[in-house]
Amino acid sequence: MPSHITVLPASTVAGKATIRLLLASEKNPFVRAIYRDPSKVPEEFTKHPRFEAVKGDVGAGSPFDFSGSDAIFYIPPPTFDGKDTAEFATQAANGVADAIRRAPSVKRLILHSAVGAHHDSGIGVLRLNHISDRILETAAPEVVIVKPCNYIENWTRALKAVQQGSSLESTFSPPDFKMPLVSILDVAEYCAKALLDESANKPSLKSAKIFGPRLYSTLDIQDAMEEVTGKKGELVIIPPEGLAEYFDKGMPEKYVSDFVELITAQLPGAILEREYGYGEDTVRGKVELVDGLRGIAAQWI
Ligand SMILES: NC(=O)c1ccc[n+]([C@@H]2O[C@H](COP(=O)([O-])OP(=O)(O)OC[C@H]3O[C@@H](n4cnc5c(N)ncnc54)[C@H](OP(=O)(O)O)[C@@H]3O)[C@@H](O)[C@H]2O)c1
Repeated sequence: MPSHITVLPASTVAGKATIRLLLASEKNPFVRAIYRDPSKVPEEFTKHPRFEAVKGDVGAGSPFDFSGSDAIFYIPPPTFDGKDTAEFATQAANGVADAIRRAPSVKRLILHSAVGAHHDSGIGVLRLNHISDRILETAAPEVVIVKPCNYIENWTRALKAVQQGSSLESTFSPPDFKMPLVSILDVAEYCAKALLDESANKPSLKSAKIFGPRLYSTLDIQDAMEEVTGKKGELVIIPPEGLAEYFDKGMPEKYVSDFVELITAQLPGAILEREYGYGEDTVRGKVELVDGLRGIAAQWI
């Protein structure tokens, strides 16, 4: 039987990629997508007969209507509008939990989290995910917590800079330090399958880390970008002591320390490095770094 799935916020990178797969699925699910600004609904979705866009702001604690939905996909968005991250995460997750309680049709919640979000401190902005996971882990009869590592797509701006002949800036040091990276295509594939899974012991993992096929270093990223663009961007490593000044240029001051802590937590010997092994709870994606970057570049070339 075709299912009914609600995705919120639908404009997130993971939301958009997963909706694309759901609409392409031969299981023909109906997708209700929640946007705070419905003018941002991608044209590729608007004309689809199994898609509807609904206005809603997770930060405003909108009373969401999940009625008729079998499954919910929630991606806690980062906030940059001045609110404290913990306060925002709590209000937003409680709004989702309340809406699930009011909708008895909801059987499953797929919750987008992050590698290392089980730590209650020292993870910077991932407090957003820690809090969301705690509030929502029992919110529906079935809850699957999906924990991707950093997306390859985070390197989009850097790839563009290299393409235009500029240097390649990396906050990860030393340059040969390998860490997990995953394509959003692998993340979305896992999330779409988990949302649609009808098998008897569905979905088998209650919490799954999603990694790419192997670990990659900044040097690997430089090589992959060269393969895609034909240009070797000069590598500029931002050392740990330079992170605050680096992030201060790109975001409101209030959030800088959260991002410094997040990057520092991922460096050699720090708490998130312990998560970098492939274990029984790890899904190994298929998309190699170079192919992920090639796919990104193909969208603007
Ligand atoms: N990026 C990664 O590498 C990565 C890896 C692992 C886990 N995660 C987790 O994935 C989640 C998404 O993170 P991200 O940085 O990648 O963000 P993102 O997918 O780029 O999503 C940000 C978007 O969310 C929408 N949004 C923000 N606040 C909203 C609100 N109050 N109501 C409705 N929509 C809102 C905004 O879209 P509009 O401006 O169009 O409204 C914004 O552009 C986070 O929980 C993060 O910790 C990310």
